[in-house]
Amino acid sequence: MKKIALFALIGIVLMGCQKANVNENQNVNMEQDLIINCMRTRVSVRAFTGEKISEEQIQTLLQCAMAAPSAMNHQPWAFIVVTEDSILEQLGQEFPYSRCDQKPACAIIPCGDLTKAIQGSEDFWINDVSAATENILLAAHAMGLGAVWTGLHPNMERATAAQQLLGLPEYIIPLCIVPVGVPAEQPEIKDKWNTDNIHYNRW
Ligand SMILES: Cc1cc2nc3c(=O)[nH]c(=O)nc-3n(C[C@H](O)[C@H](O)[C@H](O)COP(=O)(O)O)c2cc1C
Repeated sequence: MKKIALFALIGIVLMGCQKANVNENQNVNMEQDLIINCMRTRVSVRAFTGEKISEEQIQTLLQCAMAAPSAMNHQPWAFIVVTEDSILEQLGQEFPYSRCDQKPACAIIPCGDLTKAIQGSEDFWINDVSAATENILLAAHAMGLGAVWTGLHPNMERATAAQQLLGLPEYIIPLCIVPVGVPAEQPEIKDKWNTDNIHYNRW
């Protein structure tokens, strides 16, 4: 009798484990679908409602930015978060293509910090800060917000003007301006899939 009870108990535990595995696999698949869908549906948003976003949302965007890969894990970045309307206005006037005049809740300016760059291979900061910027765009999209990458560096005239406007030291190079906010437009997703761009093994 005791033996039967023991077998029954083992059976129940095993069934439970199997079910947990199925659930876990389902969760992994759902997470995978969500992340891939986020990447496929991200678009540049250039008009916003003017609604403010929470500090928590800003922190999430920055956490995602700093989760990006970087060469030798140097993390040679700094992020300027502009929330003050008067500075957003100045950015909009000085850099009309930055869309800071289109009522974003804030603007994030991902920068390279040359004091943290790899000595002798300093330019890797551009790749690192670009990866962080893309993470901000994807996180914003996942959170139902809109954003767009608007370029500063390598146009040094623009980068220097932004350095001056934001009071950045000379070793902090702004890569781009990313206005972020509640979307006031729903741009169409561009289909960029092109097999001509793909080369297996050799050109
Ligand atoms: C390096 C870089 C610079 C960009 N500069 C600007 C810009 O100054 N103003 C702007 O409105 N969009 C800018 N964009 C956004 C592109 O125009 C946009 O990503 C492209 O048209 C593809 O559209 P999508 O982002 O909706 O897929 C820039 C994007 C990158 C990657």
